[in-house]
Amino acid sequence: MPQNSAFGETIIELNEIDSTNNYAMRLINEGMAEHGLTIRADFQTHGKGQHGNVWVAEESKNLLCSVILDTKAFEIETQFLLNCMCCVSVTEILMQLYNLPNVSIKWPNDIYAGKKKIAGILIENSIRGSKWTNAVLGIGLNVNQTTFSYLNNATSMKNELRKDQKIINILRQLLKKIGSNFDRFQLNPSSFLIDYNNYLLSIQEEIQFMKKYEMKSGILKRVNEQGFIEIEENKKLRKYKHKEIELLLE
Ligand code: BTN
Repeated sequence: MPQNSAFGETIIELNEIDSTNNYAMRLINEGMAEHGLTIRADFQTHGKGQHGNVWVAEESKNLLCSVILDTKAFEIETQFLLNCMCCVSVTEILMQLYNLPNVSIKWPNDIYAGKKKIAGILIENSIRGSKWTNAVLGIGLNVNQTTFSYLNNATSMKNELRKDQKIINILRQLLKKIGSNFDRFQLNPSSFLIDYNNYLLSIQEEIQFMKKYEMKSGILKRVNEQGFIEIEENKKLRKYKHKEIELLLE
């Protein structure tokens, strides 16, 4: 069973890399990966976001990291719960250690401060045969960058707290949090779904969303274990998977 103490023990720090997630995957494929091993870079030339998007971040101003987890003890069906664990860990660091107000999780795996995105998470899995061997938690947290010319709904810790932050300290605290949360994950993975829903942006509120080219609305009830969002539309509960709809925030 992987040990919590492994977290944060080894951090590979790089000036520049294509993507910390790619680097982590290469280590896994070469048999060099260890549970808790973390890669952090100042700059990524091909930073990856969700849905094949790029993740662009100014050099040395943000936390760009990938944490390797040993997932052999789990069924691949629990992968959304691992996503919940990661989202909850980032949210709690920002709320509890940095006192950032209005932090929430936007389904499925964005972290928001108010109505703006402050962090994104990209989890990639390594599967051998039918075995889920490793997960790579790729985390991009906007720290000291203050302008986001190409994105109008992004923010950073500096924009919210009006103060520069030490990136390595944030990483150390985050790894501590992920380490202890992973211990809890081994005992009770579903408990993170409860926390995830507690931190969910717009829960129990009327929301608008796009389904194909149709604009719809309903009450966001919750997200379930499989990662489907449940929305009450005209008194009927409907479930949507990721990419089937796009949430619109005012
Ligand atoms: C998103 O689209 O919101 C997910 C962004 C994830 C970005 C991080 S930065 C560190 C890690 N390496 C990558 O190439 N992507 C993730």
